[in-house]
Amino acid sequence: MSLSTRTIQDVGNVLTSRRECEQEKLTAFFDKWAEDYEKDCNMLDYQGPNLAAALISSNFSGNREAALVLDVACGPGQLPKLMYEMGFRHFVGIDYSQGMLDEAAKTGLYEELKPVKLGAAPLPVQAGTVDVVAMVGALQPDLVPFSVLRELCQVTKPGGLICVTKAQHRTDPQGFTGVVEREFKILEDEGLWHRVDVRTSDQYIRDGSLIGKNDKQDLAFTRGTAYLFRTPLL
Ligand SMILES: C[S@@+](CC[C@H](N)C(=O)[O-])C[C@H]1O[C@@H](n2cnc3c(N)ncnc32)[C@H](O)[C@@H]1O
Repeated sequence: MSLSTRTIQDVGNVLTSRRECEQEKLTAFFDKWAEDYEKDCNMLDYQGPNLAAALISSNFSGNREAALVLDVACGPGQLPKLMYEMGFRHFVGIDYSQGMLDEAAKTGLYEELKPVKLGAAPLPVQAGTVDVVAMVGALQPDLVPFSVLRELCQVTKPGGLICVTKAQHRTDPQGFTGVVEREFKILEDEGLWHRVDVRTSDQYIRDGSLIGKNDKQDLAFTRGTAYLFRTPLL
């Protein structure tokens, strides 16, 4: 569907079906959404990739042109577009939706795109080889499980960076933010990473659950946070 014909109500309909989608049908759901995903994110003023890219950029002190960036649950590839502008050149993407991977390929920025269901299959990346890992928008109760965070630490080089973002929805199902922070702390206590920076935006994404009840410009924003961790030096 072209940008000119897609409306905020179309986005609302997608988000309603996202909320109602059973876990085993999510891959097909993302396949179907892939072509319109980026346009819809723009309509919702989604800031996840911008927040992550800015946080990584302000804390990365190595050689950007040589660094390998692993984009976990990459979707259609918004993050590398931003990071390329910041001087990064090498990107590998992972996602379980072939539709999203096809869109990501169109950016021409990924050296490799790997179809993997994270949590069900091991992260297909050699241990200790990645300079920067980013997992943006995928830490949700029914998407990428917490066990994958441990794998992100394993594939990162000693002293490398891992950025994870999370929206804080008004209703915050099952106190998910608290659960996430406890999981982060467990890995910190085990010495797998330590937190180096956090950036919160009060305007992370517009609250799509209000579409139909408000005009787009009246949709309240949802808060979101990007967390940045560093793996220990050997
Ligand atoms: C909300 S989108 C985020 C995409 C992109 N990172 C962004 O911020 O726009 C979530 C993405 O995670 C992928 N995904 C969800 N669960 C996954 C899993 N267990 N393994 C691999 N990919 C997954 C989906 O296919 C989708 O592309």
